[in-house]
Amino acid sequence: MTFQQQIKQGIPSELPAPKPYETNINHAPKRKEILSDDEKKLALRNALRYFEPQYHQVLAKEFLDELNTYGRIYMYRFRPEYKMYARPISEYPGNSEQAKAIMLMIQNNLDYAVAQHPHELITYGGNGAVFQNWAQYLLTMQYLSEMTDEQTLVMYSGHPMGLFPSHKEAPRVVVTNGMMIPNYSKPDDWEKFNALGVTQYGQMTAGSYMYIGPQGIVHGTTITVLNGGRKISKNGEGLEGKVFITSGLGGMSGAQPKAGNIAGCITICAEVNPKAVHTRHSQGWVDEVIVDLDQLTQRVLKAKENKEVVSIAFEGNVVEVWEHFAKENIYVDLGSDQTSLHNPWAGGYYPVGLSFEQANDMMANNPELFKQKVQESLRRQVDAINIHTARGTYFFDYGNAFLLESSRAGADIMAANGIDFKYPSYVQDIMGPMCFDYGFGPFRWVCASGKPEDLQKTDEIACKVLEEMIENSPKEIQQQMADNIRWIKGAQENKLVVGSQARILYADAEGRIKIAEAFNQAIATGEIGYVVLGRDHHDVSGTDSPFRETSNIYDGSRFTADMAIHNVIGDSFRGATWVSIHNGGGVGWGEVINGGFGMLLDGSADASRRLESMLFWDVNNGISRRSWARNEGAIFAIKRAMEAQPLLKVTLPNRVDDSVL
Ligand SMILES: NC(=O)c1ccc[n+]([C@@H]2O[C@H](COP(=O)([O-])OP(=O)(O)OC[C@H]3O[C@@H](n4cnc5c(N)ncnc54)[C@H](O)[C@@H]3O)[C@@H](O)[C@H]2O)c1
Repeated sequence: MTFQQQIKQGIPSELPAPKPYETNINHAPKRKEILSDDEKKLALRNALRYFEPQYHQVLAKEFLDELNTYGRIYMYRFRPEYKMYARPISEYPGNSEQAKAIMLMIQNNLDYAVAQHPHELITYGGNGAVFQNWAQYLLTMQYLSEMTDEQTLVMYSGHPMGLFPSHKEAPRVVVTNGMMIPNYSKPDDWEKFNALGVTQYGQMTAGSYMYIGPQGIVHGTTITVLNGGRKISKNGEGLEGKVFITSGLGGMSGAQPKAGNIAGCITICAEVNPKAVHTRHSQGWVDEVIVDLDQLTQRVLKAKENKEVVSIAFEGNVVEVWEHFAKENIYVDLGSDQTSLHNPWAGGYYPVGLSFEQANDMMANNPELFKQKVQESLRRQVDAINIHTARGTYFFDYGNAFLLESSRAGADIMAANGIDFKYPSYVQDIMGPMCFDYGFGPFRWVCASGKPEDLQKTDEIACKVLEEMIENSPKEIQQQMADNIRWIKGAQENKLVVGSQARILYADAEGRIKIAEAFNQAIATGEIGYVVLGRDHHDVSGTDSPFRETSNIYDGSRFTADMAIHNVIGDSFRGATWVSIHNGGGVGWGEVINGGFGMLLDGSADASRRLESMLFWDVNNGISRRSWARNEGAIFAIKRAMEAQPLLKVTLPNRVDDSVL
């Protein structure tokens, strides 16, 4: 059967042969036992509703086995035979170019080179799922292959509810992930309802098909490390010879060594999972691997002496590095952490003192003890970090809930006022005031032809647009513009593509619109093929997350989620090809609401109209909220936007003289 026929058949009418569990693949850890016997029956009933009754006998036994062995029903048997990767858009079957673009993006998110646990349909972050099981994948692809531009596919947390009549201007797909009644949004609720097969954790971009591999995050990480470097620079010097310690070589964290190299420092990135170390090292994302702490010390001293730009993976626990460097008196300039602490009890954080295997075993078989070990480890990690910061290290939270979970573990992490943390989040200090408040965020695109030449042309087009813009940019955003031009100029050379021909480029509203319009013109003239636009949810307007994206909002509204909800509703009626809204992602289930969009550019006048209307809203929604919260940069940016677009009228805040209070 051809690829197209396999897509069109959906769930096969004959049972495929069972698939062996492939041990060379990076699998999701076993999830903890959470369902009662009755609930297990419910989970089976739920799973079996995708299949004809004649197969229930066989599948019930098999699915129960999966549930008992892995804590979830993935339906491994239904994993397709064909290779999983983003094909050129022309290779997808269907009646709608927009739907084909979405198929391409789904497959990219499940590509073995891109996804963290491809057989469990997890793209990144340990639990960031595209679908809950393979039946959902098969059915969704089938729906996409038959739908027209007069229909909308409705996705409930990975489950395709079906095709509903709509119209050409409507999104082709509307995605929700993990939306819960607020009182049912505790970590164990995710464990339970995900095991039942009724919800999933979509992370920020996995469940919205917009993850583009670690490149997506390299750019943001580069900006963060560069600006962290500017913060600690005493005499305008750069990061040469300076040491940056962090952890994680997973989905996003794997971008850190590369970003460290681009920013020009010595990066030490600890990672406990040998498979993750191997993957990033073989992909060239980290230069060297060291397993011994003394060797690491020697290597770092040499690198400091020679002012080398180098990235080193330490295969082991990050707590050991912090403690060892404290003991050996190695000065650390910058420090952070990117373990998956949004998911601390189920494989996101590996406690010091346990081997990788011991930890995997304990989290499934003795979750209470495992939790204690995680908390002990966090207290130790914070104690060691505190020694370094007392010596001058600049430490920042990298949006992984490190400060939050450490505080819950009783670590010495609170500031003197007992309310704030000792250390800032990267959004409070860097991303928020320097980027988000001005509208700069992780704009991205994918060349749907799959051709590297198209990506190169789009890079050139985007660079030209920015170079023209910087000529007249106000001084407030000159640095950001210059950093982004430097990034796009180096993008080809830095070989950032993993999976689809994708690019990320931080840009503000004006930049995003101008770049997108220039792409659309190039498509119209046949210079390049179709382009899919999108962005990370981790952006100006997409995400309400009090400990991350909205951590630099100080009017008390950082615990509200109106902005993210408005964003996705507004995008959907301004021309997005698909929209998504998620609970959880980044800092954890119940801690964040985030949304995003995808948009296919096909060179048409319709696409020009849509991109302008939607991108303008997509950025300025967040700027207006940040401005209402009295953020200086945002007030500046929204006034500028009102001057450029007379139809925009935003309520501006009045300043209060505190002496009247
Ligand atoms: N950089 C950002 O801007 C940004 C953006 C979004 C999310 N995050 C957050 O960063 C975290 C990491 O994301 P990811 O996609 O890389 O997740 P991931 O789960 O793919 O990778 C985390 C890695 O940390 C390793 N690890 C866990 N505990 C460790 C320990 N004690 N010592 C050494 N290694 C350890 C794990 O083995 C894993 O490979 C997540 O919480 C994510 O939400 C960061």
